[in-house]
Amino acid sequence: MPTKTIIEPFRIKSVEPIRWTTREQRKDLLRAAHYNLFLVRADDVLIDLLTDSGTGAMSTHQWAAVMEGDESYAGSRSFDRFKASVQDIFGYTHVIPTHQGRAAERILFHVMCKTGDVVPNNTHFDTTRANVEFVGAEAVDLLLPEARRPEARLPFKGNMDVAALDELIARVGRKRIPLAMLTVTNNSGGGQPVSMENARAVSAVCHKHGIPLYFDACRFAENAYFIKLREPGYSAKSPKEIAQEMFALGDGCTMSAKKDGMANIGGFLCTNDDILARQEQDLLILTEGYPTYGGLAGRDLEAVAVGLQEALEEDYLRYRIASTAYLGDHISEHGVPIVQPPGGHAIYLDAKAFLPHIPVDQFPGVALAAELYLEGGIRSVEIGSLMFAGAAQMELVRLAIPRRVYTQSHIDYVVEIILRVWEKRMQIRGMRLTYEAPFLRHFTAHLEPVSGSTAATE
Ligand code: F0G
Repeated sequence: MPTKTIIEPFRIKSVEPIRWTTREQRKDLLRAAHYNLFLVRADDVLIDLLTDSGTGAMSTHQWAAVMEGDESYAGSRSFDRFKASVQDIFGYTHVIPTHQGRAAERILFHVMCKTGDVVPNNTHFDTTRANVEFVGAEAVDLLLPEARRPEARLPFKGNMDVAALDELIARVGRKRIPLAMLTVTNNSGGGQPVSMENARAVSAVCHKHGIPLYFDACRFAENAYFIKLREPGYSAKSPKEIAQEMFALGDGCTMSAKKDGMANIGGFLCTNDDILARQEQDLLILTEGYPTYGGLAGRDLEAVAVGLQEALEEDYLRYRIASTAYLGDHISEHGVPIVQPPGGHAIYLDAKAFLPHIPVDQFPGVALAAELYLEGGIRSVEIGSLMFAGAAQMELVRLAIPRRVYTQSHIDYVVEIILRVWEKRMQIRGMRLTYEAPFLRHFTAHLEPVSGSTAATE
């Protein structure tokens, strides 16, 4: 019989100390970083929830595989193992290694898109959108309208609006849509899963019009596990069988192995199209490297080959999804507003509802993230008006959970700090920009608190 307590399915062989700072120190550090947590040194962070990308802990099997890395320039054994592992899960004919996800995106859109084209997606991640726009095409998000409400509890809140896809194709014409994408899980939309039924429907619409469907597969294993838990007919299937079934609906994928590849670096691009693959490999050689390493070391390919399979293990996924939900459930039961239901890799605080007294143009998400750092040394990231300027749909603060890194007591600590900040939320004041770059401003922006005494401005 399954137990009530879900434990970490590993024991710890190597540890990395984390460092405490005092509240006084953090006050100075925040001021010196212009209230932008990207500008804080990682050593000055106690619990780092900035991203789940490349921040995971590798297993003993992965480290052992690293030692087996074949660093030959061409035709390395490590590439054969990498390709076999990717094909086992994804099933596509051509596997092109890249140094991370955005390199795969750049090559894909460069080869498939031109000025005036339109690329639909459930929600483009920011690098995906930027790479579509960089080649002069338009990135269109077709998320379900009800998924834009943080409090709406839908089992598959990452689904694409299939009727809207149909309408888009009718409106702009098939010729202007060189491909459609489906992001699993939907990161920008709250780490929410896409159902098999939705993927099937999107695939059917695309293929009826001869439009290739590509998956942005970064968190494919978490998505597969949500399908197993929530979609009728899938409870007896393994996460790998579910992933295989989903990828068979598409024509290729982009992947950042820094997420469900369980590696610190790496990615790939897959396609079933022989002609495209040749063009993609030519571009790869130009900027990334020879097609059997694509900018990675042989040892990196080995780590990904093993990591992709580990990400699909049920013990791991049960713990992974449970630990994210644990954080979300323990804060929301005290009234803290979050994007519901908890996603796979992160909890998103709804900063607009958390700090209703701070207007959107005073960046409630930035103010909340700064306060979490001040209170407990926790680093999170604003996903709202600072990141997306006028295009922000919501004001969120993302707490992304690195894979296999923090234990339950770390998460209990995060819960305690969030609840403390929740208690004194009315004292928190908004922020104003003092410097911004012309694009992707959130990485380097400088801010300061607006006047008035606040916890963050003490
Ligand atoms: N697609 C999605 C859905 C992502 O979440 C990311 C990265 C990428 C593509 C790009 O991959 O970083 O390897 O080039 N997301 C990270 C994050 C950065 O923090 O969510 P990359």
